[in-house]
Amino acid sequence: MKLLLTGAGGQLGQALLAAVPAGWAVQALPRAECDIGDAAAVQAAMARHAPQAVVNAAAYTAVDRAESEPEAAYRCNAAGPAHLARACRDAGVRLVHISTDFVFDGRQSTPYAPQDPVAPLGVYGQSKWEGEQAVRAQAGDAATILRTAWVYGPSGHNFVRTMLRLLGEREELGVVSDQIGSPTSTASLAQAIYALLAGDAGRGETMHWTDAGVASWYDFAHAIREYAREARPAQRWAALRPIRTAEYPTPARRPAYSVLDCTLPVAVPRAHWREALHPVVAALLRTGP
Ligand SMILES: NC(=O)c1ccc[n+]([C@@H]2O[C@H](COP(=O)([O-])OP(=O)(O)OC[C@H]3O[C@@H](n4cnc5c(N)ncnc54)[C@H](OP(=O)(O)O)[C@@H]3O)[C@@H](O)[C@H]2O)c1
Repeated sequence: MKLLLTGAGGQLGQALLAAVPAGWAVQALPRAECDIGDAAAVQAAMARHAPQAVVNAAAYTAVDRAESEPEAAYRCNAAGPAHLARACRDAGVRLVHISTDFVFDGRQSTPYAPQDPVAPLGVYGQSKWEGEQAVRAQAGDAATILRTAWVYGPSGHNFVRTMLRLLGEREELGVVSDQIGSPTSTASLAQAIYALLAGDAGRGETMHWTDAGVASWYDFAHAIREYAREARPAQRWAALRPIRTAEYPTPARRPAYSVLDCTLPVAVPRAHWREALHPVVAALLRTGP
């Protein structure tokens, strides 16, 4: 399999590059080489690399900044996927496009199925939803849309890295306890994506994938602290305090509940989020948050 990977410098892109299946060739396409918001650059990259499949892991992911930079968010998250989907359709190539739980408004109290109505709360979620629609319209059955949530890994900016830094710096830390989701390791997500690409299942469909189990941000922080203490018992780690969303105002509203009903039609092990978190805390402590 000859795969082209956009967003190769991001958290998920790095995890995909670290786990390339034997016999596969993955061509990393960093932003410097191809801005997916530029249709001509996308066409040129497709012609140059002639892949058999494309994974779009590129995204504008600054959820709060998107509220004041909507053009940049839409360019990458809506126009970019449209350009990629058109190029994939023209070349007869499969596209796996990564999307987000932020397409939902979080008013449900049971896991969101892929066909549940979307209602994004902010610019980031809306731009990703428009990207999904463009992918479906342009690439049809050649595309799989894979939504995920609360992504973290050993590289890039994420909640685990931020918590480890703050837990080491502060005496006490307030963390939101009334937003519920499923933390998802980039390593698990990469395995799910490769499993999908290895077969034909999922063509023309929208699917959900996260690690198993649910947590609030407070629960997530608590587990990070537990594993950090286990690894470095002599170090001082901040005490954690649960707070409400209202006590931590942000420019973008976030879904209060965004657990996804995961429906991947391939046999891929789905670890509990705590199990997947453990090695990432260890790796981040080794490299320094
Ligand atoms: N992070 C989460 O919690 C989360 C949750 C749900 C879904 N997702 C989805 O999962 C996917 C991967 O996210 P991630 O966490 O790996 O994101 P990330 O770490 O922010 O990586 C995104 C990558 O996309 C690149 N990029 C941004 N604009 C681009 C453009 N116009 N053209 C080409 N590349 C561009 C970025 O490059 P620069 O670094 O140079 O900007 C970066 O390398 C995205 O589709 C995201 O929406 C993420």
